Amino acid sequence: MAKGFFISRTLGIVGIVLAVAAVATIIALAVVYAEEKQKSSNDVAATPSVPGTTANPNDPWNQMRLPKTLEPVHYDVTLQPFLTQDAQGLYVFTGNSTVQFVCVEPTDLILIHSKKLSYTEQAGNLVSLRGVNGSTAPAISRTWLQENTEYLVVQLSGSLQQNASYELLSSFRGELADDLAGFYRSEYMEDGVRKVVATTQMQAADARKAFPCFDEPAMKATFTIVLIHPSDHVALSNMPVQSKGMQLDGQPWNRTVFHPTLKMSTYLLAFIVSQFDYVQREQNNTLRAREDYGISVTGPILAFFEKHYATPYPLSKLDQVALPDFNAGAMENWGLLTYRENSLLFDPLFSSIGNKERVLTVIAHEVAHQWFGNLVTLRWWNDLWLNEGFASYVEYLGADAAEPTWDIKDLMVSSEMYRVMAIDALASSHPLSFPEAEINTPAQISEVFDAIAYSKGASVLRMLSEFLTEDCFKKGLQVRPVLAIDEDRFELPGTVKEIMDRWTLQMGFPVVTVDTATGSLTQKHFLLDQTSVVNRSSQFNYTWIVPVSSMKSDNPIPLYWLTSTTAQNSNFSIGADPNTWLLLNINVTGYFRVNYDQGNWDRLLDQLKTDHQKIPILNRAQLIDDSFNLARANYTSTELALNTTLYLGNERDYLPWSAALSNLGYFQLMFDRSQVYGPMQKYIQKQVTPLFNYYKNLTANWTKIPDGLMDQYNEISAINTACSFGISECQNLASDLFNTWMNDPSNNPIAPNLRSAIYCSAISTGGEEAWDFGWQMFLNATVVSEADKLRSALACSQEPWILQRYLEFSLDPTKIRRQDATSTIISISRNVVGQGLVWDFVRANWKTLFDQYGGGSFSFSNLIQAVTQRFASDFELRQLEQFKADNADVGFGSGTRALEQALEKTKANIQWVAANKEPALKWFQSQL
Ligand SMILES: *[C@@H]1O[C@H](CO)[C@@H](O)[C@H](O)[C@H]1NC(C)=O
Ligand SMILES: *[C@@H]1O[C@H](CO)[C@@H](O)[C@H](O)[C@H]1NC(C)=O
Ligand SMILES: *[C@@H]1O[C@H](CO)[C@@H](O)[C@H](O)[C@H]1NC(C)=O
Ligand SMILES: *[C@@H]1O[C@H](CO)[C@@H](O)[C@H](O)[C@H]1NC(C)=O
Ligand SMILES: *[C@@H]1O[C@H](CO)[C@@H](O)[C@H](O)[C@H]1NC(C)=O
Ligand SMILES: *[C@@H]1O[C@H](CO)[C@@H](O)[C@H](O)[C@H]1NC(C)=O
Ligand SMILES: [Zn+2]
Repeated sequence: MAKGFFISRTLGIVGIVLAVAAVATIIALAVVYAEEKQKSSNDVAATPSVPGTTANPNDPWNQMRLPKTLEPVHYDVTLQPFLTQDAQGLYVFTGNSTVQFVCVEPTDLILIHSKKLSYTEQAGNLVSLRGVNGSTAPAISRTWLQENTEYLVVQLSGSLQQNASYELLSSFRGELADDLAGFYRSEYMEDGVRKVVATTQMQAADARKAFPCFDEPAMKATFTIVLIHPSDHVALSNMPVQSKGMQLDGQPWNRTVFHPTLKMSTYLLAFIVSQFDYVQREQNNTLRAREDYGISVTGPILAFFEKHYATPYPLSKLDQVALPDFNAGAMENWGLLTYRENSLLFDPLFSSIGNKERVLTVIAHEVAHQWFGNLVTLRWWNDLWLNEGFASYVEYLGADAAEPTWDIKDLMVSSEMYRVMAIDALASSHPLSFPEAEINTPAQISEVFDAIAYSKGASVLRMLSEFLTEDCFKKGLQVRPVLAIDEDRFELPGTVKEIMDRWTLQMGFPVVTVDTATGSLTQKHFLLDQTSVVNRSSQFNYTWIVPVSSMKSDNPIPLYWLTSTTAQNSNFSIGADPNTWLLLNINVTGYFRVNYDQGNWDRLLDQLKTDHQKIPILNRAQLIDDSFNLARANYTSTELALNTTLYLGNERDYLPWSAALSNLGYFQLMFDRSQVYGPMQKYIQKQVTPLFNYYKNLTANWTKIPDGLMDQYNEISAINTACSFGISECQNLASDLFNTWMNDPSNNPIAPNLRSAIYCSAISTGGEEAWDFGWQMFLNATVVSEADKLRSALACSQEPWILQRYLEFSLDPTKIRRQDATSTIISISRNVVGQGLVWDFVRANWKTLFDQYGGGSFSFSNLIQAVTQRFASDFELRQLEQFKADNADVGFGSGTRALEQALEKTKANIQWVAANKEPALKWFQSQL
């Protein structure tokens, strides 16, 4: 084949070796293996000057990255958290730490990370130093804390010797704050008693807040952790307990010593002191929580990954802990996984199928990291996508192993790929991989944890796995690849690295356009706004090497590689045959969009109308999603996109419905404050009514739960759509059920799956009384998934004063937990009545919000994204620009990129509304 290479059957093994080696190469690009030592080649660090009044940015303590002069070997860390307030009303912890390190290049300077710790001085210095294994340590001439770079700086009077080992000893104290970072405090109520938990979240750069450490992922070492804790509390860490005992001084303190860890990164450490009970111990896996769905799936998931990686789970225990206060969804600390309660605890009385899916996929994600991420680790955060994209991809494989009847792998298309394409189609997107020098500060590190890293990462790895075959992909990951593979023909247009560089080193993705009259194909960088200017240049000129799978009516066509901007292939030519259609990107395994000539679109639309099942489910979703996005980008007409929804009256599958509803969601955002909304609402009512009735029958009047994950989702979607678009049968159903509950609050008659939709509808139509009842039930809720449903439904009120009051509640930590504040505000801004209130609120309180919540969490960018999502007028654009200017001094932290994206999206929305308002209005009117 042109430009490709072809491997015959007899050479199959060779080809596979190459392919396997190539996969390993991509992985190896960014990782260091556990046993690998970092080799350093940099020059000897310059002799630093004594810090003076003028900061010299070239001084090593003003550099964000550690010099390569020292390598940690082993830490002994003892920590004692105090779970009651001290005399000043503070919660604190104290600790002692010894780190042994090797000097790899002579230096008279030690830089070690330290953040918000205060030290007990030893002979006038913050720390002390001694030689080990026969070496002699030079005297310390000076120590200080360098706050801008979060270092403890130790200046020596002489040089450390190459290859000699030393120990740095320190004794320190820190605040056990409720800030969800480092060693922190979480609180909860049990039987009317307030309980305090000491726990950790080190990733990305907060281990330095618990004890002084070389806090970069490549600085791996072993750790012996000792926790001193109240004797009625249990201590947990990454490793199993080695010994426990009372403290000698007769205090009610126990001392728990853990086995030394394997060589590992600081960001994966964890310590917990709590009064949680074990729910269940299963062999060596233990789960501390109140429910057992999590434990029942963890076993199969662990077994799946041991097989997948052909490597046994590296530790002897795996604990999973649900925490009341937790910033991210979960954290993959080695051997001690931590979760938000809603991501681990499943309660059949309160939790919906969506909660169940979340528990399953989050566990699979974190367990997947135990090998990929923990055993094998990124050298630096610039390649985070590999870690998170990989885990986000294989979590579906692990979840599928535990719930084989769910077809959960199909959800990757809607939950990862379409979700992230919306962002990756903007000129302000960024490549998966960053140059190492671009990512330095903790805020920059925190910003790389975005949808591109997770969802695009997962999507391109899925594509790679599909064209290599899953088996080959898997074998490429294994340490000693096994070469027993089927003898399939294996043809690639280049090495895996050459193909994948196009997807990882340049941002965005192509739209592949085929003209079935001639069989010609073209590719073009897909931008939601074709007129936007891409400032970032690409060494590949925004062209990709695209694996194009396809079918002609019922017949599959062999995989075709599109390697240039334009190409010709007779397989894609249909001529004027009115009975045959061409479909590209079967099952949407490729990370790209597809456009056709009008004739082929018409034939596909005909097929949808006459017998939609002839087109695979995922491709029905694709026809809808691609056509709407192509229309938004002005590649096709809005009428064509809307026409893909005409067959939905016959559609019963979830994925096409979900694609349609999320795209019509954009119409809703753009038009729910305009005259288009009336006819649009009636059209959606018409299309969803058959689906609503179908589920009404299937569930015997909403009393039974459909089988399977997709059917349960679609039932929920039917109710949600019917109620929110004002079908009165649905709204009455909701308020009747809710009223029944209000009359007997201890007896909720609403099925867990339907609660979100029913609560939202009842609260939106029920005024103050329904809201107050919902609020009371929220305060009383003991199960997080129930509280979450109520918390989001409370944002459905139609009363501005109620929403305004709710907004104020959301910033009061005694009412709404800090971890939930932004997601609550986001729910309010989704409501057309609430959006303006939230925008005013965010503008008025940006500085406060930023001080309290900024500089570290993901949710900041979500807030900006949510509050600006309806923006579609010049006036709103000017407000946004003003907002940016007004707060330039405060900054936007992890929301910086989201703000740029919001400006770009608003401009695109303005153009879109100008071009589409009339056609959309006419189209919806013509359907009535
Ligand atoms: C740290 O060491 C000091 C001095 O030996 C001791 O008084 C203190 O209790 C230790 N603290 C912890 C948490 O081990
Ligand atoms: C505390 O130490 C005592 C004495 O060694 C032991 O019996 C008890 O189980 C320990 N408690 C915890 C929570 O480890
Ligand atoms: C883990 O389980 C294996 C077999 O189930 C057992 O031999 C081993 O002792 C256990 N390890 C621990 C730390 O419990
Ligand atoms: C990108 O364009 C430049 C200039 O037109 C050309 O020299 C280069 O070969 C192109 N690179 C690729 C990968 O197409
Ligand atoms: C497409 O996905 C479906 C599951 O949705 C699967 O049954 C089918 O085999 C897949 N088709 C191809 C060509 O991989
Ligand atoms: C869309 O494309 C047409 C030509 O195909 C052009 O006339 C029109 O201005 C474009 N609209 C937008 C909003 O870019
Ligand atoms: Zn992860």
